[in-house]
Formats: sequence, structure tokens, C-alpha cells
Amino acid sequence: MHKLPVGVLGASGYAGRELCALIEGHPSLELAFASAHGQRGQTLRVGKREVTFTGADEAPLGDAALVFSALPHGASLEWVEKARAAGAKAVDLSSDLRIGNGRSDVPYGLTELRRNQVVGADLVANPGCYPTAILLALAPLVSSGLLEEQSTISVSAASGVTGAGFTPRPDLLFAEISEDFRAYGVGNAHRHGAEMRAMLGELGGDNDLIFTPHLLPVARGILATIVVRLKAELKSPLAPWLELFSNEPFIEISATTPSLRDVVRRNTVKISAVKAENARQPTLIITSAIDNLTKGAAGQALQNANLMLGLDETAGLPA
Ligand SMILES: NC(=O)c1ccc[n+]([C@@H]2O[C@H](COP(=O)([O-])OP(=O)(O)OC[C@H]3O[C@@H](n4cnc5c(N)ncnc54)[C@H](OP(=O)(O)O)[C@@H]3O)[C@@H](O)[C@H]2O)c1
Repeated sequence: MHKLPVGVLGASGYAGRELCALIEGHPSLELAFASAHGQRGQTLRVGKREVTFTGADEAPLGDAALVFSALPHGASLEWVEKARAAGAKAVDLSSDLRIGNGRSDVPYGLTELRRNQVVGADLVANPGCYPTAILLALAPLVSSGLLEEQSTISVSAASGVTGAGFTPRPDLLFAEISEDFRAYGVGNAHRHGAEMRAMLGELGGDNDLIFTPHLLPVARGILATIVVRLKAELKSPLAPWLELFSNEPFIEISATTPSLRDVVRRNTVKISAVKAENARQPTLIITSAIDNLTKGAAGQALQNANLMLGLDETAGLPA
């Protein structure tokens, strides 16, 4: 069967390697090239085959129907533009083209909320990992006006270490992170904040978002705990999510609070919500879990690419 060629820029990084593995198992796609920077010339085992990384400047961009850019932010935009100029569609996994980062003319690929814009698009900005977990958890409440006006949304979220990328850092050494747990970027200035605030605004929200990320000593996974004030108590705490997401193949709504084991290596977000007892105002505690490399990066990028290429949205994705 004829397969569509797709390329991966930044294939030697965590998100890029994940993409290569997903493409290898995809029924309708094949890997046209895989690029690296410092690791150019090295070989990656993907399933049964070995892939040798080319430099981005040697990658045959025009041979690909679609190019995934899993390059660092700042370095990605130039290559996305080159891929588009060579005639390929592109999904940018970096923040360079995302809403809240200076651009609003590129479809934001939070697939479940922006499917109509992604279908048939030539270029999509793939969301950040934390924003994926947090925005999908907040969207039903925000878009249906259930949050108390101008109330504060408080988010505490923890990510596995692959969220920081492959580049070696002393503070991410095993001995530094194991048997420990800490917040980072404390002060509500994390770069994902702007992306989330911009998207919440688009959904009709008028709330402060206080976001505190934490570093979890596991390889992959994000768990976000979100506290929101409501205009009124909900009769059924899960109703807003069941209403908006009941037919979504990659969203699981559950009465059980999710854990990372529920979602790791799946392109699924698992969301739960519980009424907060002992609070004077109607308050809801939402928990949301994803795999940062699958639904938070490569999986969602492939979900978007499937739609952009006219394929089944779920093709090649672990639900
Ligand atoms: N990790 C996650 O959980 C996650 C989630 C969502 C989105 N993202 C986004 O996805 C992108 C990739 O993230 P990652 O975690 O996979 O990063 P990473 O592990 O650090 O990988 C970065 C990739 O880009 C290459 N690269 C670095 N500098 C380059 C340059 N100047 N020119 C060309 N190539 C260059 C690296 O090549 P060498 O290693 O060969 O030097 C590597 O292949 C980032 O924009 C990130 O924000 C990541």
C-alpha cells in the first residue's frame, strides 16, 4: 500500500524520537527523513529498522507531504518556513507559532477544541504539554460560563523529566532529582502561562490563572490539579466534560482521580472532577493526566497531521 512520506526535524530529541516511533507504526505514513543537530550522523533504532539522522540542512523537505518540527523554540520557525516553502505541510511542536506567543493566525492544534481549523490546514501550532492537560480540563467550564467571573484558577501541575528535553543539565541528573519533589518557575511567569491565558480568553474566560509547575522524578507524564470557583454548585461534577467530550476518542472522563499509570504511552487525557467539601463558595477540584510525550507532544502532533492529510484522526495512535 502506498504510504505518505513525512519528515521529522529534531528527531534525536525526546518528542522527535516519539514521533519516529509513532510514524513507524502508522498504517498510512512512512518516515522520509529524520534530522538531528549535535547527534547528526548517529543512528536511532525505530521498531525493526534503524534510522540515521541527517542535518536539518540536508533534509529533503520537499519530499515530505508533511514535516513535523520538534526543534527547540526559537530554532523551529525558520525550519517550518523552509518546509512550507518546499511545499510540505507542517506541524510545529515548538512554541514559536502558538497562541499567546505573538502569533494568532496559525491554527492552534488542541485538536478536540480546534478540529475545524486543523482539518485541511497547511500549518498547525501544536500545543505545549502543560497547556494540553490544563486547557482540556478547563474548557468545558470556561466555554459554558460556569466559572465565577474574574475568579482565580489555581493550577498545580507536575511533569516527568522528559518534559525538559534531552539536553543535559546538572539539575536534572539522577542524583539531583530522584527521591525528591520540587516546584520550579514559582511566581506565575512560566512561558506556558501566556499560551494558556490566551486560549482561555478565546474560550470566553475572564479569570486569573495561577500556574505552578513541579518536577516529578519519573521519565514521562503530567498530572495537573486545578481548583476553580463556580457560580453555583453542579448537580453532577462530571456533567460539563461528559457533555462536551462524550464522543472524543482520546478523552477519558472518570469519577476516579487519574494517575500517570492510566495515561503513560497513550494519546489520552484522563480528567476527573470532584466538589470541594469545606469551602464557603462552590468550588471544584479537577485532576487531569497526560503523557507529555504522547498527548502532550508527538501523539497530538500526529493526531493533527492525520486530520491535515485527510486520514482517520485516530490512525497510528495508542488510545
Ligand atoms: N519534551 C516534551 O515533553 C515536549 C512537550 C511538548 C512540546 N515540546 C516541544 O517540542 C520541541 C522538542 O522538545 P524536546 O523535549 O524533544 O527537545 P530535545 O529533546 O531537546 O530535542 C531537541 C531537538 O532539536 C535538535 N536541535 C537542537 N538545537 C537545534 C538547532 N539549533 N537547529 C536544529 N536542530 C536543533 C536536537 O538535536 P541534537 O540533540 O542532535 O542536538 C534535538 O533533535 C520543543 O520545542 C519543545 O518545547 C516538548
